Amino acid sequence: MEQKERSTFSGKIGFVLAAAGSAVGLGNIWRFPYLAAKYGGGVFLLVYILLALTFGYSMIMAETALGRMTGKSPIGAYKKVGAGKVLRAGGWITSIIPFLITPYYCVIGGWVLKFLVEYTVGHEKELVSVSADGTSYFSSFVGDPVQQVVYFAIFAFLTVLIVYFGVNIGVEKVSKVAMPILVVLCIITVIYSVTRPGALEGVKYFIIPDFENFSWMTVVAALGQLFYSLSIAMGIMITFGSYMKKEVDIEKSTTQVEIFDTAIAIMAGLMVIPAVFAYNGGSDIRETAGPSLMFISLPNVFNSMGFGRIIGIVFFLLVLFAALTSAVSLAETMTSIFEDEAGWGRRASSLASGAVIFILGLLSALGFNVLSNVTPLGMDFLDFFDFLTNSIMMPIGAIGTIVLILKVIKIEKIEAEIESSSKFKRKKLFEIVLKYFAIAFLVIILISSILNTLASSFGIEALKMFII
Ligand code: TRP
Repeated sequence: MEQKERSTFSGKIGFVLAAAGSAVGLGNIWRFPYLAAKYGGGVFLLVYILLALTFGYSMIMAETALGRMTGKSPIGAYKKVGAGKVLRAGGWITSIIPFLITPYYCVIGGWVLKFLVEYTVGHEKELVSVSADGTSYFSSFVGDPVQQVVYFAIFAFLTVLIVYFGVNIGVEKVSKVAMPILVVLCIITVIYSVTRPGALEGVKYFIIPDFENFSWMTVVAALGQLFYSLSIAMGIMITFGSYMKKEVDIEKSTTQVEIFDTAIAIMAGLMVIPAVFAYNGGSDIRETAGPSLMFISLPNVFNSMGFGRIIGIVFFLLVLFAALTSAVSLAETMTSIFEDEAGWGRRASSLASGAVIFILGLLSALGFNVLSNVTPLGMDFLDFFDFLTNSIMMPIGAIGTIVLILKVIKIEKIEAEIESSSKFKRKKLFEIVLKYFAIAFLVIILISSILNTLASSFGIEALKMFII
């Protein structure tokens, strides 16, 4: 086979744009607000920010530098640095993650599409309606298997089509325009949302830490969200790093990505959470918050703005773009794994990815209706895949990467890679986090999240003793 030269990102901004494009997506706008609402509000935010400054910072740097140093994506990078069998399994686990995330990501993408369509045809009033038996519009929508599958399939099809024809560049160009508009629209919505009567309580809940709301699940959820939102612990940043030019400042560019990503997430929190308080008091937000949060609270905000239809259309269109760019880069990763490991051509690989997305996505889409009796670990399929990847596999993958860096490669080499292009300002912090804290912390998190789930899904009281 002819050896292709690895393409590189153009200039300094290329890496930041690509990494931010994959980082900002449904994770920020859909996932962050509902986790923050569910796991303690201000306490969740505080834990998230602390983790981002220490853990997120060190991991995103380490992965990017590892990628640039080896010039390979995860499985190849593990092999190239001479990882042993057990560790290579770590490379594999990180590579499997996109195969489990992309399918349910496309289901949520389908929800966004559905709301866009409803706003476009002028059904904005119906989106906030609650029927006589108390079911919201959203829950009757997810309860309908045909609609679920149709919208999911359209979104998944678009994603695979883009990867199949390799027109990602075109999509990225659109997203460069769409992203700034999304930011402006978010700011407007935040201002509107937080000034609704009663919304201030929500702002307080989201911003001011109340340690009564703290539990270990807060940390588990915040860490999983950090991985998810920054697209770390699944090899993406290793791949992006491998496309990065040697002269680009790794610390500066990864920090920019992190700040941007966190800012969008916080804005989304400020759009969604205060709205819940303004429209139904929010007193039970910790029990009721779940994946549907944004789809129930935002239509309320938009409708009361007076020109709800236009805002709804523009907002969901932009979110659709953000979701599509992320879905495309996830599907792209799956495709390149098929290409590299199975040796298939690009077209065959993208079709294989499409098949995986469709089959697994179907489980998540039907989990709210036809398959609602099947609840692995007490969760519906979508929550199950989300939990399995974010709270179990990503911590394992992250442990693998850190062990690789400490034991096989040696941290000095990673530091040298970073220092080859710039000063390394927070080198001490990087070392302390990776050498002394990261692994122990991840192991504790992992064990407690496993025990917690077992305890709550099987009602094993005895296990609760071990949960911190
Ligand atoms: N970070 C993306 C988001 O916030 C989701 C995501 C997770 C992702 N892993 C990824 C996107 C890998 C692209 C590639 O929505």
